[in-house]
Amino acid sequence: MPSERPDTGTPLPVAVLISGSGSNLQALIDAQQAGELAADIRVVVSNRADAYGLTRARQAGIETQVLSHRGFPNRADYDAALADLLGDFDPGLVVLAGFMRILTPEFVAGFHGRMFNIHPSLLPKHPGLHTHQRALEAGDTEHGATVHFVTEELDGGPAVIQARVPVLPGDDADRLAARVLAQEHRIYPLAVRWFASGRLRLDDTGHVVLDDKPLSAPVRLDELI
Ligand code: GAR
Repeated sequence: MPSERPDTGTPLPVAVLISGSGSNLQALIDAQQAGELAADIRVVVSNRADAYGLTRARQAGIETQVLSHRGFPNRADYDAALADLLGDFDPGLVVLAGFMRILTPEFVAGFHGRMFNIHPSLLPKHPGLHTHQRALEAGDTEHGATVHFVTEELDGGPAVIQARVPVLPGDDADRLAARVLAQEHRIYPLAVRWFASGRLRLDDTGHVVLDDKPLSAPVRLDELI
């Protein structure tokens, strides 16, 4: 599957993977319902049956699937089953929206150039977990979120767009997380919109290309508005 998508005028089939609340999923659903995405969220998959995001999907009339990681002997078997499941929906884009699992290189390779993740930090700062607490402990004066193409490197793929927020006096991890999350809800629909309309792609050298120009750095939301 080529990573470049010609603008065909048909909505891009999208699969969204979640593990929890699904507020980023909700932002995508809202954008789709507002006619802002040339995308069709065909399925929402969760590895947890109790993920609230499944309720959000059902309320929007989107098919849901639960594929619990329990019962699989290893990561490779789970990821193979997940790839099979996704294959039934033929997604042109896989959107990781709080999907809290590390993916095998084989799975990632199967969706090269057509899988996004959102991470709650200004990557390459603070990959991994507990990003808000770590930003506070590092004394960062700004923090934020990043949408990036997924590669084998955890939270390390080429970044598309970032949103920044200030770290304010008196912040704790929860307050900071809420400020970041509000920005996540702005940048994820934007990145999906660009990809779905054919404006955004990953080129053969692993560079992000937006409107036919390679990005030397991720787009900054504050410079768009
Ligand atoms: C979001 O903050 C997202 O950036 C983060 O999980 C949260 C999911 O919230 N993802 C990661 O930490 C992945 N490394 P949501 O379920 O409300 O969209």
